[in-house]
Parts: sequence; C-alpha cells; structure tokens
Amino acid sequence: MKSSSNPSYRIVAIGGEGIGTEVVEASLKVLQLVAKLEGFTLQINYGWLGKTALEQFGSYFPQATVELCNGSDGIVFGAVTQGGLLELRKYYDFFCNLRPIRIVDSLLHKSSLRAEKVQGLDILVIRELVSGIYFGPAGRSSDEKGAYGYHTMLYYDEEIRRIARQALEKAQQRRGLLTVAHKENALPHLPWTRLVQEEALRFPDVVVEPMLVDNLAMQMVLNPQRFDVILASNLFGDILSDIGGALVGSVGLLGSASLNSDGFGLYEAVHGTAPDIAGKGIANPLGTLAACVLMLQQWGELGAAQRIMAAQERVLAKGYRTADLSPQGAEILVNTEKLVDLLLEELSSEKHSKYKELYESIK
Ligand code: IPM
Ligand code: MG
Repeated sequence: MKSSSNPSYRIVAIGGEGIGTEVVEASLKVLQLVAKLEGFTLQINYGWLGKTALEQFGSYFPQATVELCNGSDGIVFGAVTQGGLLELRKYYDFFCNLRPIRIVDSLLHKSSLRAEKVQGLDILVIRELVSGIYFGPAGRSSDEKGAYGYHTMLYYDEEIRRIARQALEKAQQRRGLLTVAHKENALPHLPWTRLVQEEALRFPDVVVEPMLVDNLAMQMVLNPQRFDVILASNLFGDILSDIGGALVGSVGLLGSASLNSDGFGLYEAVHGTAPDIAGKGIANPLGTLAACVLMLQQWGELGAAQRIMAAQERVLAKGYRTADLSPQGAEILVNTEKLVDLLLEELSSEKHSKYKELYESIK
C-alpha cells in the first residue's frame, strides 16, 4: 500500500480486441467505486496493443503504450487475437504468472465435475511466462524432405530457479505443497525436478512433488482438491490453467497476474477475445475483475480486494449469471452491464448507504 493517507495509483487500461474492451470497461467501473469507498485515487490512461495498435501506430506493441506503462502501477489488459501480448510480457519481464483457481460456492454445480469433487477447491497455478517454447529459437525452413517449422523449448537453469523460488514462497504461505509439472521422461535436458528441489532446500517446510505433466492433467480432473500450488513452464501452464476453467464452471471467471521482479504487473483474464460473442454486451467481466483483485492485493489494498470478492459472491449467490455460466432453473441471465450494476449496488449498499450517491454518480 502506498504510504500517504490518500494514495493515488496510475493504471494503464488496454482493452485490445473482441470482448477485451467490454470486460475491461466493466471492471474499471467496479474499481473506480471501490477506490472511492476505500479512499484512494485511480488515474486511468488508455493504451493500445494488438490489431488496433497496428492500425493506429503500425506496431502490435507500440512505443506509445510503452511510454504510458512506464512508471505506472499496473496494466489492466483485456484480450487480443494476435500480436503484441507476448512482446508486452517479455518487455517488462513479467515472468511470474499467477493463476488462482478457486471455486465459488454458489457455482459448485457449474463445474465439469460433481460438486463434492470441487468443494473448497483452491489451487494456485504458477506459470513461467517469458521463456520456454514461446520464446525459444523458432522458424520455418526446408530441406530435402520438404518444408518444416520448429519452436524450441529452451530454459536457462536460472529462469527455472527464479520461478521456483516464487512458487516455493507461495506454497510456504499456503498449504505447503508444491507440485512441479515436468516431462523429464521425454525432455530430460529440462530438469525442473532437480532445480526446484535444489531451491527448496531453503524452504524446508514445503513438500515438493514432481509430477509428469500428462499425469498431472489427469489428476487435475480426477482429484483436483489434492493440489495446492502447481508450478509449470510456459506451455504446460497455459494448458493446465484452462482445465481450471472447466473445474470452476467457466474460464470466464479466471483472472491472472503477471509480475516482474519489481512487483510491477500485468493483470488480465485467462480467457481470450471470444469473437463469437464480441460486441453483444454479454461477456462475463468476472475474469478481468478477478485480475483486478490480484492487482489490489499486489498493491496491499486488501480491503478493496475483499470488498470486490464479497460483492461478487453475493451477486452470484442471488443467482445472477452471464451466458457463459448457462443459467438454468431459478438462475437469472444477465448481460455485462447488468452484472456490473448489480456489483456496484452490492458494493455501495454494504453498510455504506452514505455511498449511494457515489454509486449513482458512477453509474
Ligand atoms: C493465455 C493465452 C495466451 C498464451 C495466448 C493468447 C497467446 O492463451 O494467456 O493463456 O498462450 O499465453
Ligand atoms: Mg491460455
């Protein structure tokens, strides 16, 4: 938390494409109200990434966006279809990607699994985000056998060690179990197990459990409650975290924080641009909102984070659902705008009727 009594944070909002702009706008409304309730100020600048950036600046990740992001307190990002995102992650060295997978009680029956299999589910996937096969030597070429393409899964040992230290720290603060995704039976030159175990010598209270990633994927759908923190490389973490979406009922609920070693971060939903529903105003903003909660926690604004989580739980407990959660029976289908209104109403009504006018002014 910033030290002054009325701190001010500057964020860069990048909607991107598809539903990206819709879910970012929705989340910002909630953030603005919470800022007022908690007594801090939010300054928002709008940045560009992806196709819209290319059209306007001739680059997927333009210098104009870099200049806005430099010195800011966080980047709230929507989604893009192509170009820009990997460059942005790499540019700021956002190597530590946190993807919490937590079940909301009122959505237990939305899970791909039976309710008793996911009750109390609370997994933290930690994904290495700026190296591995996404960034290794790659290209297309041809030889006497024909045309070919290649991407290389290359990790410096130190890149594995630094994400391992982050994961060990998180596991230590949680239930003390760190499951390490690896594929050493086929990829023995990427010794995640040994490197994590070496780092773990300084975390004697954390149990390190190496697990082949194919088996890990199966265990996530058989017995997800057994996991605490899962550490994975860039590609494996991408795949495993989408399983989390099925477990909690919709990938539209999941948010993520990507941090560098200074604690500066990029906050985005786990889902993509969803072109099939873009522009219809029906997207689920809760993934981006969950990312904003992670941003508030990163700032130390724990009260604000708590308020949003509580408001969200109450709105969901009353049965309001966006279309991705396939409302049934007594559940009530709402669009993005209505869901945001409900969240704002919950936030302003919680013991704070004096804030009603604030809510009206933001609405
Ligand atoms: C994610 C996404 C991205 C990734 C895509 C859009 C490049 O799937 O953040 O999970 O693979 O990292
Ligand atoms: Mg993904």
